Amino acid sequence: MRLILLGPPGAGKGTQAAVLSEELKIPHISTGDIFRANIKGGTPLGLLARSYIDSGKLVPDDVTVDIVGSRLKDDDCKNGFIMDGFPRTIPQAQLFDKMLDERNTAIDAVINITADDSVIIKRLSGRRMCPCGKIYHMESNPPKTEGICDVCGSRLYIRDDDKEETIRERLRTYHQQTSPLVDYYQKKGLLLDFDGTKPKEVTTREILESLKNLTKRV
Ligand code: AP5
Repeated sequence: MRLILLGPPGAGKGTQAAVLSEELKIPHISTGDIFRANIKGGTPLGLLARSYIDSGKLVPDDVTVDIVGSRLKDDDCKNGFIMDGFPRTIPQAQLFDKMLDERNTAIDAVINITADDSVIIKRLSGRRMCPCGKIYHMESNPPKTEGICDVCGSRLYIRDDDKEETIRERLRTYHQQTSPLVDYYQKKGLLLDFDGTKPKEVTTREILESLKNLTKRV
């Protein structure tokens, strides 16, 4: 399956993508994770991306589309993928459509996870990350030992862009540049809506159920 996860920052895209990737046996591709890995590695791409990410803005479309284009050439994408955080603008979506068209493939569904701004601000200020990729929350999903990852034992950290001021700017960016994609994919008949404020296991179940119904119809 070829899926896109859409939704505001903190709606739970990364949380759901990790489970869906395991269940559906397709890779989870997060443009945010790719940028953060490059920032950590001190690459030229990381240096460029950092200035945008730290101020809550989007990395330019041409840079982002190129990264996705080369990631899609990897073998593990042959049978599908879950795009988390891409596309994020109408030009990105149009270029992505073209890219898939050239490969004689197309998106099967767009999973739109919703949550109000007030929920998001509360959520993101409580988020804790592990370098291994596991996502925690101080209240809704704490690790067994405070500050330590249950899976790999590393120390958890707070993302640089999870400061309240940057979160508010990310939300503004989402409403201005990304939310028009809801309409874009609705018109293509691909949009599936999910309430991201339900317990995460409930949302996972609802998404998997919808995808099952989708494959039955094909
Ligand atoms: P990115 O890393 O994609 O960040 P984002 O879209 O802002 O989304 P987040 O990762 O913050 O949230 P999420 O929806 O994944 O939520 P999560 O599952 O972690 O992008 C970062 C930056 O990179 C962008 O701002 C931009 O600058 C740049 N960028 C990336 N892609 C780009 C693109 N295509 N074009 C241009 N620039 C791009 O959950 C959040 C918290 O809530 C966690 O603590 C979690 O435990 C908790 N939680 C999750 N679900 C639930 C639930 N159901 N109930 C209670 N708590 C929950």
